[in-house]
Amino acid sequence: MKRTHTCGELTAALKDREITLNGWVHRHRAQGGITFINLRDRYGITQIVVESDSSKELLETADKLKFEYCIAVKGIVRERPEGMKNTGMKTGDIEVKALEIQILSTCEILPFMVEEESQAKEDLRLKYRYLDLRSFGMQKRIKLRHEVTFAAREYLINKGFYEIETPTLIRSTPEGARDFLVPSRVLSGRFYALPQSPQLYKQILMVSGFDKYFQIARCYRDEDARGDRQPEFTQIDLEMSFVSRDDVLAVTEGMMQNIFKKASGIDLSIPFKRLSYDDAMNTYGSDKPDLRFELPLQDFASFASKGDFQVFKTVLENKGAVKVLVVPGCSEYSRKQITDLEDVAKTYGAKGLAWMKITGDSGVEGGIARFFESSAKDIITALGAKQGDLLLFVADKPKTACTALGAVRSRLGTDLGLLKADDFQFCWIIDFPLFEYNEEESHWDPAHHLFSMPQEQFLETLEKDPGVVKGDLYDLVCNGVELASGSIRIHDPKLQERVFSVVGFSMEEAQKKFGFLLESFKYGPPPHGGIAPGLDRLITLLCNQGSIREVIAFPKNTVGASPMDDSPSPVDTQQLKDLSLQLIETEKKE
Ligand code: AMO
Ligand code: AMP
Repeated sequence: MKRTHTCGELTAALKDREITLNGWVHRHRAQGGITFINLRDRYGITQIVVESDSSKELLETADKLKFEYCIAVKGIVRERPEGMKNTGMKTGDIEVKALEIQILSTCEILPFMVEEESQAKEDLRLKYRYLDLRSFGMQKRIKLRHEVTFAAREYLINKGFYEIETPTLIRSTPEGARDFLVPSRVLSGRFYALPQSPQLYKQILMVSGFDKYFQIARCYRDEDARGDRQPEFTQIDLEMSFVSRDDVLAVTEGMMQNIFKKASGIDLSIPFKRLSYDDAMNTYGSDKPDLRFELPLQDFASFASKGDFQVFKTVLENKGAVKVLVVPGCSEYSRKQITDLEDVAKTYGAKGLAWMKITGDSGVEGGIARFFESSAKDIITALGAKQGDLLLFVADKPKTACTALGAVRSRLGTDLGLLKADDFQFCWIIDFPLFEYNEEESHWDPAHHLFSMPQEQFLETLEKDPGVVKGDLYDLVCNGVELASGSIRIHDPKLQERVFSVVGFSMEEAQKKFGFLLESFKYGPPPHGGIAPGLDRLITLLCNQGSIREVIAFPKNTVGASPMDDSPSPVDTQQLKDLSLQLIETEKKE
């Protein structure tokens, strides 16, 4: 009873043919002595009919069938009578009159039904992930994932890239997040780390002369799982030698174009828009702006400095910024709606969200309007506002003002229904700062990682004024999601040393942590750069899912556990002994 066809391919062209199908009992019902079975496999559903005049054996078998039994069916393809055809189904014109049914395996009572999308709670779905993966939604997404990786490989291989694996047991190196550690049994007391990304290895591959490398690489970061984060995730990791930033961007654009076309039939127009980090922050209040809608932040300093609102004036006197958002047609917003937006702004550090309404060509009303009545006409003209608009303001340190009002902008995008799911607005964010000041610990941190190249015009004054140094770093952003990050790397050990010293790494410490990379740079390293799109986030975006877990076959839940295999799990005392490890009691986290 080996299958001759799949459950998704029979049409009226195969009328009267004897065929065999294998699959799962999706639905079954008996009606007037006839049993209808919807047989399902990865390819689709076919309706099987067991007529009342069938053999006794067949009738008995049909009677035993339950949801998700795995069965084989031999039968004759026949056209469904007019009126019984299902135009919504690929196999909707036909049915199969069963001649013989074999039960390949039975199925216990299901924890939840297999349907379009499983309706069970997420932890139950994850516990019985194999059943959850039978749903059409999951099947579709896993297929898309396969097609995306295929299209990425196809594009890169055609461009001359080699796919090279790098180890997943490596040395623990500081890379931003916390490492997962793996104790060594043979070398007791020593640990491997799981790579946070193949960063150092791909750079070393450049030293080895593999000038175009890629890898569908698994990365591990011991951080809290959130909607768009997993402790274990996948990157389309790539690195190239003898290239400038624009070469890396062009390859990434070509790859994205191939992925969207092949996997989803979507034509992306390239090159993607580019925004400097400063412009993105000033205009959208985010380094990952959603460009499906405009709603730009504008500067209000010139009016604020002349007006009578003391809060704004004080902020400006302290070198802060006053930013304003013109929200079209929202002057009827209630106090409650404005307070909700204010809460969003406050979450991002704002002290408040000031507002006023535009009531005419020169009229403003409500909120802080009384401080600006005399200049209302000029304000309205300068901001391009009109009657019926709502103005929202945040005054604070420049970064806080932009970020907080940017968060309000994002929220309005959702609230005003401006986010079309099938509209993919890509942009590059370039010219990132190389360093970020860590207020808590009073020192400079690398904004991306330690190996990114400062832009040439900042080389001389690197140490003097780290805050203004821009790096040759780039992020690919789509619809408010950071899809990829990369940079041109430092390949000059002396320059690398200077960057280490800015972030307070002594050469000794650097040697200890990245010695092997620095050592390799003594042997003719080529100039190089690369990027790594996050595969899971890309698929999540392509199928418009809210959670990255919907596009991973076996993800971890929100506390980093897998309810199916119950990992992480305790281990035997003997296993610990073998590893020369002893557990210490710590207070349990709530
Ligand atoms: P970065 O750390 O920015 O760069 O990661 C690159 C991309 O990987 C995705 N990503 C994640 N996806 C899911 N869960 C996570 N926890 C997670 N963390 C990151 C994002 C992100 O843009 N080695 C550098 C790349 C380079 O410089 O070439 C790196 O790993 O989409
Ligand atoms: P107050 O003068 O404190 O009553 O504030 C008047 C309005 O200004 C309120 O709507 C506050 O939310 C708002 N507000 C206060 N501080 C700021 C600030 N730094 N930026 C923007 N709005 C503010």
